Amino acid sequence: MEYLFLSLALLIIPSALAGLSAAPYVPTKKRDVARFLKLAEISSKGGSPPKADTAPRLPASGGGGKKEKIVYDLGCGDGRLLVAAAKNGAKAIGYEMSLLNYLFCLLFRRGIKVKLRDFFNADFCDADVAYMFLSQKAHNKMGEILARQMKKGSRIICYVWPIVGMAAQRIDKEAGRPDMYLYVIN
Ligand SMILES: C[S@@+](CC[C@H](N)C(=O)[O-])C[C@H]1O[C@@H](n2cnc3c(N)ncnc32)[C@H](O)[C@@H]1O
Repeated sequence: MEYLFLSLALLIIPSALAGLSAAPYVPTKKRDVARFLKLAEISSKGGSPPKADTAPRLPASGGGGKKEKIVYDLGCGDGRLLVAAAKNGAKAIGYEMSLLNYLFCLLFRRGIKVKLRDFFNADFCDADVAYMFLSQKAHNKMGEILARQMKKGSRIICYVWPIVGMAAQRIDKEAGRPDMYLYVIN
């Protein structure tokens, strides 16, 4: 019985801490994953047909032989955006504090790398794209950190909440859907 409680606590406590840290687990809607791929300018290098639901494969935007993009999801949840990015030729890396989400990605997701770590202490200097679906406060805090760390021309994409004080290059709007914000580092 004690082991059961201990195991449950080990699974539940990190998720609760993650909720307090930056945001509880709420996934990006499946039909908004393609909007992320477009704003991130991630497209398939191959000619395979689109994958269903969470991993749309976009048409190649020309100029083959491009270097693979490095994409981070800060608090990657079930890894759905990373899987979509990886299927479209990106190197996809996630940070996740919830042990449950981390184990889910480890057991059921292929082609992505997930780190059981707090993204507030991570380094994103090699990122081409960083995605955030967190609280407004966490977006603002990480926005400042990412703007310092990320290279010129790299992209930050935010779902639902903007980064206050940073000018969005584009706000992707769709009727009845949350806004998606694109920031380009200059
Ligand atoms: C709103 S969910 C977004 C999940 C995923 N990015 C998506 O869009 O489907 C936020 C995620 O961030 C994780 N999280 C919160 N604070 C974190 C932190 N400091 N470091 C790593 N992950 C964190 C939570 O466990 C949760 O899975």
